[in-house]
Amino acid sequence: MFYYFDELGSTIDEGRNAKYGHGDVIVAEFQTAGRGQRGRRWNSPRGENLMFSVVLETSFLRADEQFLLLQAVALALVDMLADYGIDARIKWTNDIYVGDRKVVGVLIDHNVVATDAPGKTGMLARSGVGVGINVNQKEFDPELPNAGSMALATGCDLDRGEVLERFYARLSERFEALKSGRREALQRDYHANIYLLGVEADYALPDGTRFKGTIRGVEPGGELLIETREGLKKFLYREVSFII
Ligand code: BTN
Repeated sequence: MFYYFDELGSTIDEGRNAKYGHGDVIVAEFQTAGRGQRGRRWNSPRGENLMFSVVLETSFLRADEQFLLLQAVALALVDMLADYGIDARIKWTNDIYVGDRKVVGVLIDHNVVATDAPGKTGMLARSGVGVGINVNQKEFDPELPNAGSMALATGCDLDRGEVLERFYARLSERFEALKSGRREALQRDYHANIYLLGVEADYALPDGTRFKGTIRGVEPGGELLIETREGLKKFLYREVSFII
């Protein structure tokens, strides 16, 4: 079911309510406390973009396999954008870029069932996939110099309801592939769509040190592989940032 709200704090928080089940979509025309990655806010003007969360039942995945879900979601977004003739890439871990502009942000919230068994990781129970798609916005806060939108990429305004329906169809396909065990195909497709794959670029460590490197791929667990002058290095989320 699709649930439409004129205003919410955050669709992710709303999606935690047990009344929503697998496949439900919570859409907000405006969020007063939209959440972004790394504790940031996600602000989006009323009536121009899409802000929603999809509730998914993910109890077939271990907590340490959650990167697979992220891959399925990122690929569904790339698939949907390709339906509109937009050639998008996945900026590790799951920002969607068109050229050097971010068009989609994703934030996934998981419920994990803990285990007492020593050395065992818990299982996921359900996940809230929060997605913010810049659809028709053309002017952005100067503090977001790399922001873009589908309208800027295509040169025309798009029907937001249709964008959401197309994404939902693409997500259903990718989620089915994940659930039925087609993991290698997801990993292969994710690899093929990595932003800056094989291109030398600038990166920064959390202490601000900058270095040049070339992305060579992503490990199945989600670590980013960057070839540096000191050799191939693996980075976990938050251990490296892109200088764009
Ligand atoms: C990012 O920082 O790139 C992730 C942004 C995710 C934004 C979406 S908008 C709908 C959903 N509800 C939220 O509060 N955040 C996500």
